[in-house]
Amino acid sequence: MATVTFRNVSKRYGAITALDSLDLEIGDGEFVSLLGPSGSGKSTTLNLLAGLISADSGTIHIGEREITHLPPEQRDLAMVFQNYALYPHMTVAENIAFPLEARKPRPGKDAIARNVSLVAETLGIGNLLARYPKEISGGQQQRVALGRAMVRDPRVFLLDEPLSNLDARLRVRMRRDLKELHRQIGSTIVYVTHDQSEAMTLSDRVAVFAHGQLQQVAPPREIYENPVNTFVANFVGDRETNFLDGILEGEKDMLFRSGSAVIKLGTQRLKNASQKVTLGVRPEAVTISRNADDGMCAEVIMTELAGAELFVYLRLISGQEIGMRCDPREVSLVTGETVSIRFDPHQIHLFDQESGQNIA
Ligand SMILES: Nc1ncnc2c1ncn2[C@@H]1O[C@H](COP(=O)(O)OP(=O)(O)OP(=O)(O)O)[C@@H](O)[C@H]1O
Ligand SMILES: [Mg+2]
Repeated sequence: MATVTFRNVSKRYGAITALDSLDLEIGDGEFVSLLGPSGSGKSTTLNLLAGLISADSGTIHIGEREITHLPPEQRDLAMVFQNYALYPHMTVAENIAFPLEARKPRPGKDAIARNVSLVAETLGIGNLLARYPKEISGGQQQRVALGRAMVRDPRVFLLDEPLSNLDARLRVRMRRDLKELHRQIGSTIVYVTHDQSEAMTLSDRVAVFAHGQLQQVAPPREIYENPVNTFVANFVGDRETNFLDGILEGEKDMLFRSGSAVIKLGTQRLKNASQKVTLGVRPEAVTISRNADDGMCAEVIMTELAGAELFVYLRLISGQEIGMRCDPREVSLVTGETVSIRFDPHQIHLFDQESGQNIA
């Protein structure tokens, strides 16, 4: 069983806590992304797992086996980095075969060739085996790097930003390929990225990091729909979440009041009846209100037509800016126009104003 378990793992560099008491369990065959901004501890986590750096405290297991202090080569993992440096003087086939050639005892020539061609077929690069790295594209090079990791048939794959050197289109293509590959080989994959859309589309679960601390680990949908705090709410999603500070009033029919804006929340189940809250609402949960008395007055500051979606920047009377995302076939607005907007009450998140924790 190639499960991966971090228990209370910390790593410090002088005064910096790169990773703070990480508890994380990754299932056998699961695809988990470590997502977070620069410096949040993603690579630290991966490097600890790979054995490239050592933990100050805590334990790491793969399956039943504790690996916290084992050297990298005894951990049965394969790692693919962002700069996947292939050997330029070797063909694709030789690059993929390299880890097998280095193995002791060395497998026979036929066994190596069979293995290499199997891996190359799986990756769709079977026709490139005789070429040199400079004779193939970036995406193909990335596949060769993956092949070099796959040929070792490791229990766990560690990928650190493997697609970040590719152009946007190719990245999206490779995402699909990676997902398909994972389906085929069924290995446990730990994938580091700071790109939330990559994490959301690829993973079974996403682990969100900030300042060396794991914020939330959950399936993409739950991360998106149920963020545990304002950080996660804002970091996940391709547009920023709108946040409004205000107070809660009433019990049965709860109201949120922020300056002159009043939002009916209906009945909410709150963990603690915090009065000062931050309301979070994603741009797609903001709509034009047909019914003026349930909406808030807002002025259109700017519109952005991005293919299939229209993004509208609005300003409330309080001066607060709100982003709204809508269908350009249904909504047309001009700058300077005043509209009435509303938030979908089912897609509103309430956070404690001090701690930023979700209180719903
Ligand atoms: N060798 C080191 N010496 C000192 N500080 C380090 C070292 N490696 C990492 N750090 C610090 O630890 C913190 C976490 O770094 P880490 O590399 O894990 O971030 P990351 O999430 O991978 O970021 P990025 O997206 O930029 O790769 C950062 O503040 C970083 O500066
Ligand atoms: Mg990193």
